[in-house]
Amino acid sequence: RTPPLRELLAKFGVVPVVAVSSADEGLRLGEALLRGGLPVVEITFRTDAAAAAIRAVAAELPELLVGAGTLLSEASVDAAVDAGAAFGVAPGLRPPVVERAAALGLPFAPGIATPSELERGLSLGLDFFKLFPAEPIGGLRLIDALAGPYPSAGFMPTGGIRPELLADYLARPSVAACGGTWIAPTALIAAGDFDEIRQRAAASVARIGA
Ligand code: 3PG
Repeated sequence: RTPPLRELLAKFGVVPVVAVSSADEGLRLGEALLRGGLPVVEITFRTDAAAAAIRAVAAELPELLVGAGTLLSEASVDAAVDAGAAFGVAPGLRPPVVERAAALGLPFAPGIATPSELERGLSLGLDFFKLFPAEPIGGLRLIDALAGPYPSAGFMPTGGIRPELLADYLARPSVAACGGTWIAPTALIAAGDFDEIRQRAAASVARIGA
């Protein structure tokens, strides 16, 4: 059975959010993450290469769990599933996108930032969300506040997370993993500095103590 997304991502504790400009870049990035001991990546649909990169990584690096990010439309959900993405993420919550992911069996974490959005997600049958943009909207204090009224909700806080904050976030029972671009920022990928990315992945894994 495929474990729920919350459980799946909790194994990693941190999810690198990336934008790549080619399938080859996706592969080199994936190899760097594997060497760094962090076998998970969210490849965002912010570049035209996203689907091709997901397809290449899913086919050639099967030990890497590859998800699709920035799924803003039903068409991007279709493309992510067709490419072989294991999960999907979005910055916000649009019911047609949530429903498309559910119809195709794609484990999906839409973004929420408020109690009302969280309740809309719960009413759509979800219980795991990207909390975005986590730091600007309250970070740890928001997570603690949401735990009272919504004890069953799980989160992947993303947006402004720094490695120094990882342990505090992961100490919250509702937090399965943190997302962020600090491990593989676009500038490092574009510069081909995959060894720095490997080191950043390893450093984040060390902070989690996983
Ligand atoms: C995202 O969309 O997930 C964010 O761009 C990631 O946030 P960060 O760049 O602050 O880590």
